[in-house]
Formats: sequence, C-alpha cells, structure tokens
Amino acid sequence: MNATTRPTALVTGASRGIGAATARELGARGYRVAVNYFSNREAADQVVKVIEADGGEAFAVRADVHDPGQAAELLRRSTADGRLDVLVCNAGAGFTPTPVRTLPWDDFKAKVTDELASVYTLTQQAMALMGAQGRGRIVYVSSSVADGPPAPGMAAHGTAKSALNTFARFVAHEAGPLGINVNVVAPGFVRTEASAGMPEEFQRSLAERTPLGRVAEPEDIARTIAMLVGEDAGFVTGEVLTVDGGRGVVRM
Ligand SMILES: NC(=O)c1ccc[n+]([C@@H]2O[C@H](COP(=O)([O-])OP(=O)(O)OC[C@H]3O[C@@H](n4cnc5c(N)ncnc54)[C@H](OP(=O)(O)O)[C@@H]3O)[C@@H](O)[C@H]2O)c1
Repeated sequence: MNATTRPTALVTGASRGIGAATARELGARGYRVAVNYFSNREAADQVVKVIEADGGEAFAVRADVHDPGQAAELLRRSTADGRLDVLVCNAGAGFTPTPVRTLPWDDFKAKVTDELASVYTLTQQAMALMGAQGRGRIVYVSSSVADGPPAPGMAAHGTAKSALNTFARFVAHEAGPLGINVNVVAPGFVRTEASAGMPEEFQRSLAERTPLGRVAEPEDIARTIAMLVGEDAGFVTGEVLTVDGGRGVVRM
C-alpha cells in the first residue's frame, strides 16, 4: 500500500497497554498510525518499530492530552495533508482507588476534568477535519465501571467515565450529519501495566466469574476498536460497547 493512500489514525496513550495494542492492530489493518505518548518515548518507539516491521507506517508524537494547546498540536502533527480518518481517545493516567469519604474535592475534580480534557480539544478539532472530509470515526475508551455496580474506591474514575459516555452521545448526535461515527468501548478488567497491581487471586476469581472464562488482554479491546472504525460498523454510532467477556451479565 502506498504511504499517501493510507488512511490516518491517531491513538492517544499508545505507548503501552490498550493504546499500544490498538495502534498495532490499526497499523496491521493498513492505517498510517500516529502513536501518541506522554512520558515513555522508548515504549512508543517500540510500538512504531513493531508496526513498521509488519510492513505498516507509524510515528511517535509526544503530547500531554490534558493540555488543550498540546492536544491541538498533536492533532496537527498527526494528520496527513490535513486528513484524519480515525481518532481513538484512549490515554488514561493511573490513579489510586479511594473511597469518597477520604477523597479530597480537588482530587475528585482533577480526575473528572482530566478525563474530559483529554478528549475535548481533540474531538472539536477532529470534528472540523472529518466534517470537511465528510467522514470519520471517533472512539473513546471508557470503562465498564461507569455503568456497572459501584466498585469500591472507584467513584472518581467511574464518574469521569460516565461523563465520557454521556459526552460521546452528544458528540454522536452533532457529528452524525457530518458523516462522523462516534462510539465508546467500555472494557472490564484488562491486563495492562495500569491494572498490574491487582492481586493474582483477584484476577483468577474474576476469570472464574466471567462467562468467557478469562480476563481481557489489550488485544481484545484493540480488535473491538478496529471493528468499530471499520466498514462493517458503518451504521453504528452513539453506542457504548462493553467488552468484558460477559462479566456484566453475571450478578455476583
Ligand atoms: N486496564 C484496565 O483494566 C482498564 C479497564 C477499563 C478501562 N481502561 C481504560 O483504558 C485506557 C488505557 O488504559 P491502560 O490500562 O492501557 O493504561 P496504561 O497501560 O497505564 O497506559 C496508559 C497510556 O496512557 C498514556 N498517558 C497517560 N497520561 C497521558 C497524558 N496526559 N497524555 C498522553 N498520554 C498519556 C501513557 O503514556 P506514557 O507511557 O508515555 O506515559 C500510556 O501510553 C484508559 O482510558 C483506562 O481508563 C483500562
């Protein structure tokens, strides 16, 4: 495939975990992938190398997506001739689960604000570009914790992701007439560095209570995102797709 004919995809937080797997998946499917990272240049370069070794095209771009100026610059540097086909907002900063009664307001506010800040400017600018093209795909990475039973210590994270799900519906409504599909992928527990602190015993027990019999790998989420940005999902927008092996249908 000629470099100039590849559709362009920007994946935020693509140096590790779900974002890295998504960048690799989209690279393998013929996208020219902008691999956004924040602090881990080496890991981002490694993702680029793997995509290139597979015959794909990718490049690393540093930006703190919480900063509107950096987000705007990230989008500018990621496009090819002003074109952007796919935006995957995945970046997520780590956090320590904390009960509401001991969580200071400023920390709660920062968590919710950062979650929305990490998608807001990118969404606005992507809508302008994709709207001018008459087509585009946006996927937000949320969490099943937003709509599932309240998990201990996850009030800030769950509220932030819930706000993201709601934001996505409004964007889908506004962006549909421009030819842009907007969807949310809501993973359950996924084995990444962010979740590595969860004890083995917890993961085993979770797998036993999951109908599909295991916890998710980043590739499970990446393939779902790739499906949503592909042609087969052309009439799907405004949806929150839970990817948890059926865990959410089990009431224990
Ligand atoms: N893992 C799970 O169980 C799980 C479950 C449900 C939802 N999710 C969601 O899935 C997404 C990815 O999670 P993950 O587990 O893959 O996380 P991860 O392995 O910790 O990776 C986080 C990624 O986000 C990047 N990042 C962090 N802050 C950033 C910032 N300010 N600007 C740009 N990039 C930033 C990191 O970049 P650097 O390495 O360069 O700093 C890294 O590439 C998050 O939105 C998370 O809430 C995860």
